[in-house]
Formats: sequence, C-alpha cells, structure tokens
Amino acid sequence: MKALVLSGGSGTRLRPLSHSLPKQLLPIAGRPILEHALDGIRRLGITDIGIIVGTPGSEIEDAIGSGARFGARITYVVQDEPAGLAHAVRVARPFLGDDDFVMYLGDNVLAGGLDEIAGDFARWRPAAQLAAYRVPDPWNFGVVELDADHRVVRLCEKPAEPRSDLALIGVYFFTAAVHRAVDAIRPSARGELEITDAVQWMLDRGDPVRVREHTGYWRDAGKPEDVLECNRQLLGELPSRIVGTVDAASRLGSRVVVEPGARVLRCSVEGPAIIGAGSVVEDSWIGPYTAIGRDCTVRDSRVTDSILLDHVTVVGVHGLHGSLVGRRAQVAGAAQHRLLVGDDTSIEVAA
Ligand code: G1P
Repeated sequence: MKALVLSGGSGTRLRPLSHSLPKQLLPIAGRPILEHALDGIRRLGITDIGIIVGTPGSEIEDAIGSGARFGARITYVVQDEPAGLAHAVRVARPFLGDDDFVMYLGDNVLAGGLDEIAGDFARWRPAAQLAAYRVPDPWNFGVVELDADHRVVRLCEKPAEPRSDLALIGVYFFTAAVHRAVDAIRPSARGELEITDAVQWMLDRGDPVRVREHTGYWRDAGKPEDVLECNRQLLGELPSRIVGTVDAASRLGSRVVVEPGARVLRCSVEGPAIIGAGSVVEDSWIGPYTAIGRDCTVRDSRVTDSILLDHVTVVGVHGLHGSLVGRRAQVAGAAQHRLLVGDDTSIEVAA
C-alpha cells in the first residue's frame, strides 16, 4: 500500500501568503499542514509516500525532505500543470505501479476517523473507497448521492444544485482499477481532469465504489478562516509542554507549549497556545488559540486566535485577533494607521 499526497495547487484563496509559501506549508498548531497529513498516513502504517509538487526542487522538498524524519521514504513527483487530481494520478503512475494506494489532498486537515476509512478499504477492497462529510455549502465540493441502503448512486464535482449535503473529503483509497478511469475521462468545465469524474466512470462500469461518512474532524484549509479554524482544533488537542524559559512574573494557563529557546517574560498566556522555538514574548497577553512561529518577537501586545509565521515582529498592538501574519512581517501599534500593503492583502483596522 502506497500513499500519494497532492501538494501542488496555487492556493489563490490564501493570497498573499501563498504567493511566497505553498499553502501546504502554512503552519497549523505550529507545524505545516502537510506534516499533519504525513502523520496521518504514517499512522496507517504506510511508508512509501509520493508527494505531487508543482515544480521540481520546490520549497516543499526542502521543508519535508527524504521522509526519514517521518520514518517514511518520500518520492517527489512533478505535475507541471495544475490539470486536476485525476491528472496527478496519471503523472504518478510510474511511482504507483499497480499497487493499492491512498490519495490524500495535502491541504485537508483530518483528526480521527482515518483508521475507519482505511479499515473499510482493507475489509471490502472496493475499486474506490471514499469518505464524505456533511457540509452547509456542498456546491464548493465533490458531492456524493447515496440511496437508502447507503450505496453510491452518483458523484458530481461542485454541482450548482447539489443533490445531497455529503461532500467528498480529500482522502481516497484506490486499487489499480483507477488508472483506466483517469486515462478515460475528459477535462471538466473548469478544464481539469477531476478525480470525482474518474470515480463516476468506475461506477458507470460497475466497479465497486464505497463511501463512509467521516466521523472525526475535517476541514479543507483553503481559506484564511479555515486555516484559523483548523489551528483552533489542533491546538486544542495539544498537551502542555514547557521547554523554553518562563519567568516568575508570567502566568501560564493550560495547554501551553513553550518550545526550546523561547522566552516568556512578564506575560499572561492563556492556552491553547504555542510560543515557537527562539521567540521572545514580553509584557504581553497571549490569548487562546494563538500559535507563534519560530524566532518571533512580541512585545507590549495582546494577541488572540492568530497564527504568526516565523520571524514576525509585533510591538505595541493591543488587539491582534483572527490574524494570519506572514514570515518576517512587522506589525506595530501607532496612533494612526500607516500601511505598506502588498497586492491581494486583506486588512481590517479598528475604526
Ligand atoms: C477537491 C475535489 C473535491 C473535494 C475537495 C475536498 O476540490 O475536487 O471533490 O470535495 O477537494 O477538499 P478542490 O480543492 O480542487 O476545489
């Protein structure tokens, strides 16, 4: 059994952060989204993992490496055009061979429940084992329609008029039967070879296709609010761990992680929160659901429900909330707003 992790895609809904960093490397609860995916795959006992990247020698390869850190062997497969998920399977054929595999979308965050989906695939070994989750906005996803006996009737990618609220989540188990399907289908209206269409093709041929409703947590971390939501979820699962320095004048709540080399001075830190390695946080109030990256400086500030990437400076800002702050960014308090703002940025200031 192999795994194929998709990590291409341009991440347009996460601009401007995704201009300079692949969205799969955005940190959630202190670790890149992609590492959470790799953890899930390793927990299934899979060690042979292919990662689809958009360009050779990408930042993803630098960040994730050979896989040794995860006890896995990683093969990078280049998909040089964003031509769809089924196209990625085509491109990965030399890596996949005729083995069974799980395809995992690298921007999907799951907690729990993966064992159940894998268990169904192992038990029944259908040509495709999918997973679905009830959502309020099914038109943004692949949608699955089931009959009264929970058999798959039809699949449709981003339907204008969804026939159910069951969205396909980004974890698909396949046998080698999928390769005929991805070779047979034509591009969709958005010009992509859709994996949803490939599975529909299998269904039309009478191949066994199963769907399980996912019971654990799931989000497609495609938009800033989803990234923050995933951060809240995964931070909430972290046990406290204090390795860095916390002075006697500071007060820490529960579920607080202070990484090696970090210093917390005269602060109040409510959990769940992470202070990343090498960061200095002084005279500040760090509120719940805040993940501060590595080598950041936070001084005389109040930060809640936010993610600061590495090397960020925040000084004299008393209400930073629901924010995603990119690498090396500087945020300073002032009596008036003075902004140097890049393209595609979204900023809200206190009125
Ligand atoms: C893709 C799939 C869609 C699935 C979704 C899950 O959508 O095409 O069927 O529901 O991932 O995250 P995309 O992220 O390419 O819009």
